[in-house]
Amino acid sequence: MDCHRCTDATTRRSCRPSEIEILLYFFVNYTSLQGLDIPSRIRNYYQLVTSQAIKVLTSIPCCLYTSVSPSRGPAVLVTGGLGYVGSHVCLELLKRGYTILIIDDLRNSFSNTVQNIGLAFETSGFGEYKTAIQNMNHIPIDYGDTQALNQALVGYGRYFLIVGAIHLAASKSVAESLKNPRKYYENNVSKMERFLTALGSLGIRNVIFSSSATVYGCLPPETALKPLKEDLVPVFRSLRQLGGMLGGLTPYGISKILGEGLVARFVERDKQRNGVVFRLFNPVGCDPSGHLKDDPKDKKCRGGVMQMIMKSVRRDQVFEVYGTGLGGRGDKSCIRDFVHVADIARGIAMGLEACVYKGYRDRERLKVYNLASGGGISVKQLVRKVGLESRVAVRVRECSKREGDIAVSVGDNGKIECQLGWVPERSIEAVCKDFCHAYNLQKDRGDLN
Ligand SMILES: NC(=O)c1ccc[n+]([C@@H]2O[C@H](COP(=O)([O-])OP(=O)(O)OC[C@H]3O[C@@H](n4cnc5c(N)ncnc54)[C@H](O)[C@@H]3O)[C@@H](O)[C@H]2O)c1
Repeated sequence: MDCHRCTDATTRRSCRPSEIEILLYFFVNYTSLQGLDIPSRIRNYYQLVTSQAIKVLTSIPCCLYTSVSPSRGPAVLVTGGLGYVGSHVCLELLKRGYTILIIDDLRNSFSNTVQNIGLAFETSGFGEYKTAIQNMNHIPIDYGDTQALNQALVGYGRYFLIVGAIHLAASKSVAESLKNPRKYYENNVSKMERFLTALGSLGIRNVIFSSSATVYGCLPPETALKPLKEDLVPVFRSLRQLGGMLGGLTPYGISKILGEGLVARFVERDKQRNGVVFRLFNPVGCDPSGHLKDDPKDKKCRGGVMQMIMKSVRRDQVFEVYGTGLGGRGDKSCIRDFVHVADIARGIAMGLEACVYKGYRDRERLKVYNLASGGGISVKQLVRKVGLESRVAVRVRECSKREGDIAVSVGDNGKIECQLGWVPERSIEAVCKDFCHAYNLQKDRGDLN
């Protein structure tokens, strides 16, 4: 990668890290707070110092130094890497031997997730905690702040070849998006446009995007009774193309449709670029180690269905099932396609590797896949299964449909199985077991452990 701060054209192409840069790099990466019980005030100060150090490091023109290391190891950029899906994706990438650059400004996650990913890595038996920590670099910036992003990536680009970007950072609450659509446009669309432009100018060619099954909300409800195939909703390049289908979508769903279109444009602009859009259905469960959880900072957002079940089990509260009667089969509650989050993470890593190592030789450089199980269970059945695992009979109250709720949402996974060889490996029972273990739900009741 060229150094854009070098004014001398002869050094611009050949600049390599110097001893001083490497010292700074080690300062940033090795002064970790692992395992210590440190008050949050000091932790925040540490983060500030770290981000200042990154700024200093990346603002030094490398033509000032002599070169020391001509080789650069492969690294993957993960935005939103400390969130629920992101932390599992980071764990999966570590298991596959990657160095990770995590862009996450912690608006909906906590900095100790880095340590938790390290603990999960060690528990999984893939390697030591220390190795995991050394291979993760947290860059606490807003992914839409292109100046900070450029500075950080140019700096890290001297040590690593960034082989691809997995873009997960987003605001994700359907309910909140109905109240505050502007926030969703800004965080999920405007920033993404700037982010992709920055990636293009940095020469990063492979982009993996986490879209959502909510994009199928634009279909007539009767279509959704069968497993949904990807081509039912193609990638739209503009809202105009979407036309009359916009009606069934929430602002969150629209932001995901627009995000898919942005990835398509990114890929079209250069023949060497590839993109994979994953439409995530319902990620649930946790890594079996129990170290990684869905732990949103923003408690105002209701969280996913498992968060709500967890609260009912912990507080012995009634669980509210929305839209009962919509589902139309079995117990008539809504049918959803629940997939273990570790399977989702594995699928995302497989998508990245398909871009990076095999390269898409076929004409289609943008792929769209459902990350779905192909089957579905009702929300009430899920509640019952968590109840069995936690040994708590959760009481259920039937409530009316919420805006944006659809009766059945199940994805067809034939395409991803055929092209990437991905199928979910973990059952819904494994989901409930790992979930109850991570949240200590059995212990809470005092009749287990
Ligand atoms: N969890 C689900 O049920 C689900 C379902 C379908 C799709 N998705 C998509 O998957 C992705 C990840 O979801 P998740 O459940 O892990 O969400 P999450 O909120 O747990 O994680 C998102 C992470 O991104 C970070 N982030 C958000 N905006 C940022 C910004 N501007 N700059 C830097 N960091 C930022 C947050 O701090 C958080 O750590 C999202 O794109 C979401 O839309 C999630």
